[in-house]
Amino acid sequence: MEEAVPAKVSIVREQKDIGFVCQDASLRHAMAGLENATRLRMPIHLHGETGTGKELMARHVHELSARKGEFVAVNCGAIPEALFISEIFGHERGAFTDARHDGAQGLARLADGGSLFLDEIADIPLASQTVLLRFLDSMEVRPVGGKTSKKVDVQIISATNSDLTDRVAKRQFRADLLYRLNAYTLKLPPLKLRQDFSAIVKRLMDELAPQAAITDAAINHLRKADWPGNIRQLRGVLQRALVRRDMEYIDEVSFDDLVIAPEASSEVCDGCRGHPLNQHKCREIRQKYVSAGHNIAETARALGLSRTTVYKHVF
Ligand SMILES: Nc1ncnc2c1ncn2[C@@H]1O[C@H](COP(=O)(O)OP(=O)(O)OP(=O)(O)O)[C@@H](O)[C@H]1O
Ligand SMILES: [Mg+2]
Repeated sequence: MEEAVPAKVSIVREQKDIGFVCQDASLRHAMAGLENATRLRMPIHLHGETGTGKELMARHVHELSARKGEFVAVNCGAIPEALFISEIFGHERGAFTDARHDGAQGLARLADGGSLFLDEIADIPLASQTVLLRFLDSMEVRPVGGKTSKKVDVQIISATNSDLTDRVAKRQFRADLLYRLNAYTLKLPPLKLRQDFSAIVKRLMDELAPQAAITDAAINHLRKADWPGNIRQLRGVLQRALVRRDMEYIDEVSFDDLVIAPEASSEVCDGCRGHPLNQHKCREIRQKYVSAGHNIAETARALGLSRTTVYKHVF
């Protein structure tokens, strides 16, 4: 008779389909605390290069928070400096020249009961940073020209692709505002370093052309490219390849505009070329070096090798 398997007590929750690919171990690890952080209403800060999925993640945070209110996104870089405060906090009727005749409630109040996504926060004008800081401290909104404040309940999410600590050092961004916003920071890795690269390619293919196929060779070819525009750029490259192939399939010669990173294009180092026994190890070291963001020490640590050995194979 088969022995009954005891139910395993596990603290690893099943991964739900969250609508986008997230199988990368480092990202999943970083996301583990997200739900608790939103439960504690901590401001969430998303940092990552352009096209790494910050907006998608911000929407996910809103869903995690299970708030009934709206998800209100504000592109801080797109609002003229003079209008920033009134856009966010609203204004009373006729508060300033050009103010809307009937006043405006502002985005912070619109997000009451929901989430306010402050995108591109590095672009918030310095003068407005002070007002925003005051709001984050009190969660009270007072419209321009108004006499009374109203308390709101808003999940704050912010995002940037800039190095904010550098901007703080240059006095372009207030340190106290940064510490208010980045209570819980999630870093979105660049596409080049993601372990779930092929899952991302397949997900994009499903979205773009579910009937079309992509070969493993094509995915490997894509993996070697440089991706300064990250997932957004990958989507564009796949779209163009699909158009070239009449939406039927993509193979490794379907791409017309891929820039292959020089260190990844030569698969083994000069010393190992022609030595089949060394090539496997060499390839592993070079791949790890790329995925470790060109960091010799990290590559050496991950593979249990000396730095000198890694150095020999990557240069
Ligand atoms: N994990 C993912 N799986 C599938 N598609 C993704 C994923 N992350 C992002 N994308 C897609 O990549 C594109 C860019 O994502 P998004 O706009 O969220 O990036 P971003 O970091 O906000 O970029 P930017 O800094 O330029 O504003 C979108 O089309 C999005 O659907
Ligand atoms: Mg964005």
